[in-house]
Parts: sequence; structure tokens; C-alpha cells
Amino acid sequence: MITIDENFSIVKWEQMRSFLSECYRPDHILCYKKFFEWQFQVKQNNERASLLCAWEDDRLEGILGYLPILTHWGDVNNPVKGIWLLYWMVREGAPRGLGWLLAKRVQSLSPLLLTVNASKLGTSILRELSWSFLSRVPRYICVLDKKQCVAMLSPQATEKDLDAMVFDNDRKTFFNSEFILNKDTYHPDWKLYPGLAFGTVRSLDYFKWRYLSHPVFNYRIAVRGEAQRPVVCIYRIEEAFGSYEARVGRIVDFFHPSDEQGKREGAALMGDVLQQLKELGCAYVDFICSNKTYGWVITHLGGREESEDKQILPVRLAPIEQVLRHQNFAFRVLQGLRNPEADNLQITKSDIDGDHPVSVPTQTHHAIVDYQKAA
Ligand SMILES: CC(C)(COP(=O)(O)OP(=O)(O)OC[C@H]1O[C@@H](n2cnc3c(N)ncnc32)[C@H](O)[C@@H]1OP(=O)(O)O)[C@@H](O)C(=O)NCCC(=O)NCCS
Repeated sequence: MITIDENFSIVKWEQMRSFLSECYRPDHILCYKKFFEWQFQVKQNNERASLLCAWEDDRLEGILGYLPILTHWGDVNNPVKGIWLLYWMVREGAPRGLGWLLAKRVQSLSPLLLTVNASKLGTSILRELSWSFLSRVPRYICVLDKKQCVAMLSPQATEKDLDAMVFDNDRKTFFNSEFILNKDTYHPDWKLYPGLAFGTVRSLDYFKWRYLSHPVFNYRIAVRGEAQRPVVCIYRIEEAFGSYEARVGRIVDFFHPSDEQGKREGAALMGDVLQQLKELGCAYVDFICSNKTYGWVITHLGGREESEDKQILPVRLAPIEQVLRHQNFAFRVLQGLRNPEADNLQITKSDIDGDHPVSVPTQTHHAIVDYQKAA
């Protein structure tokens, strides 16, 4: 008989590792214990992972990860605990209906459920369970070095496409390398950010977990402005390999107060970040963001939103994959919670597992000196 546990004790890691290794692959990033523990917040949860586990005696048959994350949902003064789903997997040959059962179980945990990158089968089940979908979160691209980009062009794209998205900046960069991120320098008044009315609360604690203690990626957090009204850009450099080798800048989050000063400071900060990435030899930069309020800045600096049916430059880089691919977003709300509108929902690449390493690291990844220090 199958039983479903609401969390996973890390003591049983060997069973988990063998399930992940069989159902995903032996070098899947979740098989890296340090990453698994970080992802499912094991240390914060008394050595237990936030993961529904379906057991047939001692054998794992299915999992569904869920992370309670403080989320704005229409009222920035009253954030709610949203449950973000990730890594939903059922073993081949498990009893039919097990995936469905896990989804039903997780739905009982919160009136607000969210996820990104649902698969085809996952999507069809979630649709049956009345989830709403945004099938494509827009992706913005800015070319920093056309020569390198030509070598990475998607088969259906041309050099002309690149010409329409070249970084245009004549300012010198200004980076305050002395900036220390702490509660005195960063405590945004969320009322100034209507564009963040629906989405993860981008608090200092969240940053500390999501970016500063990430076990593999080296994120940089660029912040400018007063503590109550900062503009923020979070990014990392990816080393693409396969058909070509290049550095690519990935902006995983960006926001600013919505007033004129905020927009001006936002554009200046983004200009600095792109200039810095250009100087570090990146071929291009991309930014996946549901919210045009923040996506505009890339087009302001010369870039473009990629069209829905034509990929210009690859999304998957380790190794490079020339496949048309979009990030999707799905949510389910109950009990009077509102539906978000397009210009106040902030979903980006860094939400939940949208920006994750592909495989267990085999060598020390490139050490990039962090611009940002955390107190
Ligand atoms: C997605 C996944 C978790 C689903 O689990 P599963 O156990 O294979 O799926 P189920 O047996 O629960 O459901 C399969 C079908 O039965 C339907 N179903 C199952 N129980 C049902 C019920 N009680 N009432 C109505 N429909 C039901 C589902 O809607 C689905 O419909 P379909 O056959 O037309 O596709 C599993 O296939 C998997 O691990 N896939 C690979 C990884 C993946 O894609 N994960 C999802 C990420 S979003």
C-alpha cells in the first residue's frame, strides 16, 4: 500500500538519491546532496525536506516538492504564504493516479499555489485541477558582442535579427563596490513598487537564501538608491558550452520604484550591469520577466523582446540547445484571492527552480569575484 508523507527526513538520503538517479539521471543536480538540502530548506526544517513523498514500504514511488514562500498577492501590506511547487516526479510503473494524488494532497496545504516550467503532462493535470496558466513568460535579449552571437544564432534566426537588439550605451559604469546589503541599506517600501504587487516578497531574508547561500551559482546583487526605495538587479554569468563556448549574462531579477526617479535609476543600474557584462566578455544577456514594467529597460537600452515563435539565441546553455523553449507560469488561487494582472505580476527566471544548475558540479565552477557582499 502506498502512503504519502508530508516531508522527507534527510536520514533516508540514500533512498532519495537512488530514486532521483533512476527517475531523472545520476548526475541530475538534485543528486547533489548539498544542493538538495539548500533547495528544500532542510536545515531550516529540522533536517526535513519540504517534499511530499509517496512510499511503497521502503521504496520511493513519487515526490512533489513544495516551498512555502512569503508572497505578495494583491496587497503588499499583507503578504501570504504561497506554496511554490517544484520537482514533481512519479516512478514509471507506479500505480496510475499517483501524480494526481500528490497534486491533490499539495492543494490542501494552501489557498495559493504557484509553479514555473510545468511539463506537458504536468500542465494537463494542473489544468484539470483548475490552475491558471501563463504559457510564456516574455524573454528579453540584448546583444553585447555580435561576433560571438553570430556563432550562437538559432537556425531560424539571422544576423539581421541581432542588429535589432544591440546594446546601446555611451555612459561609463558606476559601481559602488563598498555597498553592503543589510537591513539598514535595504528595506524597501513595497507600496512604491506596484509592479511587485503579485509575486515573491523580495526581502533580505529571501535574498540570503535564494542568492547568497546558493550552493552552486555565484549571483551578483547590484543595488542602488535609498534603503526604502532601492533599484535592484540580480544576475549571474553562465559559461555556455557545446557547439560554441561563450559567457552569457543572465538577469534573474530586476525591479525599481515605479515613479520617474525609480525608472531613471533603474535604467542607469541596468546600463551599468550590461556594460559590466560586456566588459567581462559576455556575448549577450537575457532577462525572463512577466512584467513589462521592468522588461522595458532592456528595450530602452537597445535590446528586444524575443517573439513567441522564433528563438534568436539559445535559452539552454549547458550545453547549448537550439530548441524553442519558453518559461511558463501557473497558479491556483482559492478563498477570495484575486487574479493578478499582467503589469503587476512579477515572475522571473529566479522564481523557485526556474534558474537551476543542470548537473552535479564536476569541477570548481568559475570563481567570479562578487560585486555584492552581504553583512
Ligand atoms: C507528471 C507526473 C508527475 C504525473 O504523474 P502520473 O502518476 O504519471 O499521472 P497520473 O497517473 O496521476 O495521471 C495520469 C492521467 O490520469 C488522469 N487522472 C489520474 N487520476 C485522476 C482522477 N482521480 N481523476 C481524474 N483524472 C485523473 C490525469 O489527469 C492524467 O490524464 P491523462 O491520462 O489523460 O494524461 C508523471 O507523469 C511524471 O513524473 N512525469 C515526468 C516528470 C514531469 O513531467 N513532472 C511534472 C512537472 S510539472
